[in-house]
Amino acid sequence: MSKFIKKIIIKKPDDWHVHLRDNEVLRKVVKYTGKFYKRAVIMPNLDNPITNCSKGIAYRSRILKSMHLNYQFQPLMTCYLTNLTIPKELEIGFSNKIFIAAKFYPNYSTTNSKTGIKKISDLTSVLECMEKIGMPLLIHGEEMHKNIDIYDREAKFIEKTLDPLRKKFPKLKIVLEHITTKESVEYIKKSDFNYLSATITPHHLMLNRNDMFCGGMKPYLYCLPVLKKNTHQMALRKAISKGDKHFFLGSDTAPHLHKNKINLLSCAGIFNAPSSLLSYVKVFEEMNALKHLQSFCSENGPKFYNMPINQETITIVKKPFKIIEKINIGKDIIIPFLSGETLNWSLENKY
Ligand code: DOR
Ligand code: ZN
Repeated sequence: MSKFIKKIIIKKPDDWHVHLRDNEVLRKVVKYTGKFYKRAVIMPNLDNPITNCSKGIAYRSRILKSMHLNYQFQPLMTCYLTNLTIPKELEIGFSNKIFIAAKFYPNYSTTNSKTGIKKISDLTSVLECMEKIGMPLLIHGEEMHKNIDIYDREAKFIEKTLDPLRKKFPKLKIVLEHITTKESVEYIKKSDFNYLSATITPHHLMLNRNDMFCGGMKPYLYCLPVLKKNTHQMALRKAISKGDKHFFLGSDTAPHLHKNKINLLSCAGIFNAPSSLLSYVKVFEEMNALKHLQSFCSENGPKFYNMPINQETITIVKKPFKIIEKINIGKDIIIPFLSGETLNWSLENKY
């Protein structure tokens, strides 16, 4: 009876999909991820993407410098794959623990993906190498073609790209990031957990496309993959509430300046770091599935990545928590997901 639960203690969570950006944005947003999570997988799609080891090392040290007092937080870096990536770079990066994984963005699929991959066959030698060394491939799974409807891109990607890829590289470890459809849930569930798993965001669990379009178009809810129909949202909620270990926490927190969110061409991305963990708690509570919160937030991710589960714990208590309204960035602002709203759960003894 989760409505009577007032206190939850879980192993400290990790966020397996985070955008921190750079410079002032990085300095202002990183503490929100550091507050809730011990480790975070850092996406490499900066304006100047992280495409090699030296860029990865330099970016990691900029992140750590921006964390000030929180020496506990561990950024786990990823390498952005282009058609110029060479296997040796990944081998060196992975064996020296510079990179935990490499990210495949289809060309023009999302923010800073103009140097993403046009044809998956351009990655053949890179993928052979990754399969051999056990380096995970993180995928933005949308099939990009002008004739493919935006709502069908994820399902088409499974059919046209992911399934053939897995047949060609059966031992390649893959994370299908930020899944949004029932087709993805079904496909992932029947796969071998060691080789295919998926992250799920809080916004795809809490919202569907009606939330974005009804009562006025809300650019703050625009992200990619785009919010889908309610039936897909329900499939995601059901997937996590069963405690299936294929699924784990990846918030896809993706800050954009206000002026770029409300521009004629709105940028895709939802900055949810101030509320992501507590939003997941809300969803698990609504699904009467709090017993599976720890596996989703703190266990399934490290198991897939063959990393230790954090030993320290956090305590989450039933106490109202108001989400910060905005963050100032120079003369602009970033508005977080659930800005100014109050959630029922808070972290104990923090802030
Ligand atoms: O909504 C998104 N924003 N989806 C992505 O895949 C990228 C991200 C970003 O970097 O802004
Ligand atoms: Zn992302």
